[in-house]
Amino acid sequence: MINVAVLGYGTIGAGVVEVLTTNADSIEKKAGQRIVVKRILDLRDFPGDPHQDKVVHDYKIIEEDEDIQVVVECMGGLEPAYTFVKTALLQGRSVATSNKELVAKYGAELIGIAEEKKVNFLFEASVGGGIPIIRPLTQCLTADVIEEISGILNGTTNYMLTKMEEEGMAFDEVLKEAQEKGYAELHPEADIEGYDACRKIAILTSLACGKQVDFEDIHTEGITNITAEDFRYAAKMKKCIKLLGKSWNDDGKLYAMVCPMLIDHYHPLAGVKDVFNAIFVHGNMVDDTMFYGRGAGKLPTASAVAADVVDCVKHMGTHIKIIWEQEKRELSDFSSFERKYFVRMPKEISLEEVRKAFGDVEPVKVEGIEETAFVTGAMKESDYHKAADQFDTILNMIRIDE
Ligand code: HSE
Repeated sequence: MINVAVLGYGTIGAGVVEVLTTNADSIEKKAGQRIVVKRILDLRDFPGDPHQDKVVHDYKIIEEDEDIQVVVECMGGLEPAYTFVKTALLQGRSVATSNKELVAKYGAELIGIAEEKKVNFLFEASVGGGIPIIRPLTQCLTADVIEEISGILNGTTNYMLTKMEEEGMAFDEVLKEAQEKGYAELHPEADIEGYDACRKIAILTSLACGKQVDFEDIHTEGITNITAEDFRYAAKMKKCIKLLGKSWNDDGKLYAMVCPMLIDHYHPLAGVKDVFNAIFVHGNMVDDTMFYGRGAGKLPTASAVAADVVDCVKHMGTHIKIIWEQEKRELSDFSSFERKYFVRMPKEISLEEVRKAFGDVEPVKVEGIEETAFVTGAMKESDYHKAADQFDTILNMIRIDE
């Protein structure tokens, strides 16, 4: 029998306990041993909860309990999660976590400790909730050089963009709905400003290149500027707007960014709606692959954490090698990368003036919207800004992903 301690009895922690208890018999067959939740750490009490007698408020009780072999961390945030996880690994316990802040910041270090101690630090749920993406990158696709990762990595914003596109719902209304459904982070900025997606693409890119990609280096924009008008233009261009976390190799240079982008209707990521996430991975041998599923929510995320617990149990005494060195991988300046831009300006600005600054552009006209809107030719972001700076008002700019 293996005893597990769950740190944090919020949405995901409670989900992990539910998965491990509901599916205890089938999990036992797959793990080869019974997995029992022995203790739950939370500051709160849970009167009436079937697991209330397992709840403790002091981590010391878990630290000193020699019968605990696996620790599940679902507290979120850096501290005290980092201290507790590091302590558990140094004690020779395996850890499964859903905490992307922790993994993005300390993943390489914690993997290193797990390797030294011959235990495991697994984090499948930290990116894409219930979608298998960490194992594909660290196991199935290791024969490839990964040339591109493009992901819809945040369920809340994808849910919001879908509702705005299909039902014309207002930004605030749809954010509230996503929060009520338990998709959103505690502070909505983490979702809507792209910070959550940024940590996730940092993790995926680190795994793809085997070195530390710092999330602070990734240019990140959220969806707060996206309006109903943008969706009308997108429909006219047979495109949709998605918040993408992207990283790509171009001529030996590694780029990464998070921002809303226009993608063609036929792009595999275009059909990813609501809270669903998907990660498109292009390898130099395997070509295009895509991983799809629920990127947020209690049970999908908990399912991935519980599967990591099973893997920890199956590999007691052995370390599952994950290549992610602490050495930093520098990113190239994304402003030197060429792409097209969709730009909206007030109607007073003529196409002639626009062409003087941007070169040839393709106008986009939507009935009932009196503006000067256009798609530029492929140009470096730095050149785009030089041109855009010649105008007082840019109503919006959305990058085009091709
Ligand atoms: N707030 C996150 C999302 C939760 O909406 O995707 C999962 O990381």
